[in-house]
Amino acid sequence: MRQAAITGWGKCAPDNILSNDDLATLFDTNDEWITSRTGMKERRISHVPISELSHIAAARALACAGVNADDVDMIILGSCSFDSQVPNSSSRIQQLLQASNAACMDLNTACTSGMYALSVASAMIKAGTINNAVIIGAEVIHPFMDWTDRNVAILFGDGAAAFYLEAEDTEENVGIQAEALGCIADSRDILAVNGVGLKYANQGWPLGTTLWDFEGREIFKQAITGMQSGCEKALGKMGISTSDVDIVIPHQANLRIIEALAQRLKVPNEKLFVNIHRYGNMSAATAPMAIVEAVEEKHVTSGDLILVPAFGAGLTWSAQLIRWGQRCEPIATTDIALPECKESALDIVTRVAETHLKNPA
Ligand code: UT7
Repeated sequence: MRQAAITGWGKCAPDNILSNDDLATLFDTNDEWITSRTGMKERRISHVPISELSHIAAARALACAGVNADDVDMIILGSCSFDSQVPNSSSRIQQLLQASNAACMDLNTACTSGMYALSVASAMIKAGTINNAVIIGAEVIHPFMDWTDRNVAILFGDGAAAFYLEAEDTEENVGIQAEALGCIADSRDILAVNGVGLKYANQGWPLGTTLWDFEGREIFKQAITGMQSGCEKALGKMGISTSDVDIVIPHQANLRIIEALAQRLKVPNEKLFVNIHRYGNMSAATAPMAIVEAVEEKHVTSGDLILVPAFGAGLTWSAQLIRWGQRCEPIATTDIALPECKESALDIVTRVAETHLKNPA
């Protein structure tokens, strides 16, 4: 049976760290509030655009799978912070990777984009449209963050993670085994970034300034119920329960959301992977990065069944059951790395905050 196996994985977390104490220099907040309400301690700030961050993650995933860039059939970039809309950002990744035989697609479902990219690539491989794909979940959020708004600015960070998927004709079940995808569009206004998108062009909106509509408590509630019902649907398709799952790797938006979801799904702590303290919420990069780190840290072993619930603006949601293959070690590694950054994370975001203060919306 034709399956879409994940045979390469890689991540790119910028070195620049923005701590809770750094945030306390920008507005009225503190480490105790952020840690107890969200579980976050620090997040990363990128000094390069999303295509460059994605390129490093993708090159690492290709090395891990032991394949050459010119053998790649398809690149899908899942994100909501593209460098440019026209041309698309995945075409820049093709250029940087020198993957000249690859089709290129940008995909936006906000925080779930990385997992939707995995879903699309997997379905295209199973259908025989392509034989392999690189999918990337990546985000460079800090340029359009409102660094004067403590309600949202504490939550997000930058990063990228990638998977290489390839067709395998095998009786062994590997890759996505069941999934459920959806969108609660009646709640699309509770998480909106005003100032980004063509509807703001020629409307006198100050360039580089955003205003976030962000109903944190409502998003919190809907995230839990949306992910819970998504997981139940995906589990139902396989006729199994969470006790048959080896590890749950959820989208990391708030530790309290993760814990409430785990309680409802009856998932014990030892089956739950959490890395929110290191990165905050990297939107589309979050769930892919958590999967990559769970493999790297050996929380995922050969043949494990992984449940990945996610949600994002839209409000989009997803739940996927992924069977990992036999190999948990990379075939090879690459020494490719980001260029050095001379500015601190706090310097970078202070510059963005000054733009907001100079040009209020
Ligand atoms: O991927 C999708 C992305 N979005 C999310 O996942 C967001 C989901 N929502 C959340 O994670 C939580 O709702 C937040 C972390 C955003 C907020 O936590 P909360 O427990 O819902 O706090 P709250 O908004 O109800 O605010 C409680 C208090 C308020 O003060 P008063 O009115 O009680 O005096 C806020 O003004 O905390 C205050 N507050 C802060 N204090 C210090 C809000 N933000 C901060 C802050 N530092 N950064």
